[in-house]
Amino acid sequence: MSLISNRLNNFDSSDFRDVFLRQQSIIDPIDLSIGLPEDLTPTPIKEAGINAIMQDKTIYTPSNGIPELREALSNKFKTKNNINVSPEQVAVVPGLTTGLLLVYLAILDPGDEVIVMEPAYPPYTSLVTAIGGRVVTIPTFPSFQPDIPLIEASITSKTKAIVVNSPNNPTGAVYSKETLIKLAKIADEHNILIISDEIYEHFVYEGEHFSIGSIYPNTITMNGFSKEYAMTGWRLGYVAGPLKIIEAINELQQYMVMSSSSIAQYAALEAIKQPGGQMRNKYLKKRNYLLKRLTEMGYSVEGAQGAFYMFIQAPADMVDLDFVEKAADHDVLIVPGRAFASRHGYFRISYGSSMETLEKGLDQIEIITRELNSRKTTL
Ligand SMILES: Cc1ncc(COP(=O)(O)O)c(C=O)c1O
Repeated sequence: MSLISNRLNNFDSSDFRDVFLRQQSIIDPIDLSIGLPEDLTPTPIKEAGINAIMQDKTIYTPSNGIPELREALSNKFKTKNNINVSPEQVAVVPGLTTGLLLVYLAILDPGDEVIVMEPAYPPYTSLVTAIGGRVVTIPTFPSFQPDIPLIEASITSKTKAIVVNSPNNPTGAVYSKETLIKLAKIADEHNILIISDEIYEHFVYEGEHFSIGSIYPNTITMNGFSKEYAMTGWRLGYVAGPLKIIEAINELQQYMVMSSSSIAQYAALEAIKQPGGQMRNKYLKKRNYLLKRLTEMGYSVEGAQGAFYMFIQAPADMVDLDFVEKAADHDVLIVPGRAFASRHGYFRISYGSSMETLEKGLDQIEIITRELNSRKTTL
């Protein structure tokens, strides 16, 4: 008897697990690997969470979230994203990632196809295969921008959705309004859904964030509190879209999660009152610093218009795992590109960490790069 379902045959989170294990084996790692904002949850949000506990708001909530939060999120969608959704079209979920599983469960039948642009946040692909769907990956190398004709050519009668993530993890690419209009047009022509993960909407340094849901009603817009409000551990996200899909998600939530954390929801009610983008300038400085230093070292950096990641080709034609290993020998933690894409020569740097950590990490990467390049030229 096989203890584990075949469904998990293609489920592999080992690249990230290896980074975590590495982290534990280094006494004082210079961590440029994890998608964590350096900031801590702002005090008013923490106080709102504490108040919720003290006021005994610690029981299950409605499975789709407390009405006042859904109301606030519906307003936010209308005023900030130009997406016209009622509070009933908004579901609060325990983090965007779990929300994505709920979306896939709600919309996919076995064999249905989902188009994912690669490199991609790993759950986009893994969760599809885990529930019996089929992933169709479209490479975006080397510009990290969507190849619209290629996407259109890969649509079949089984295609159910296209996943869009701008600003992007791991490339930092931001898609222009024009590109997103083209994507919406082909989705409309072929009657397929768009799933738009906008968790980095406030981290844009070049161009502007545009919500595809503002022009295409068959969009499921996903977002969360982890990045903008530095609330990764609170586990709270939200999904908006066509009412039928949101109702299906809420039915699933009733048995799968009961409700998202009541405490996190009351804290989020405070978070959503803050204007977004408070952290942008700090991240812009770090991004510019990284861009300058990496370019000086001879790296060519594509994307990097948003989020807090850069996805870069390893020097001297090195395999990503070897380069990551080499960096770890210098106490620097980065993620191998294979965690995000089937192409294996890239690595991801996160600049969620502090400027001081970035400076230390870049000093080491400079030493490694120089050594590798000189070795290559002497060969
Ligand atoms: C693109 C993207 N979406 C979602 C998440 C996680 O969101 P949550 O913490 O709400 O599950 C991440 C985290 O790194 C991410 O990069």
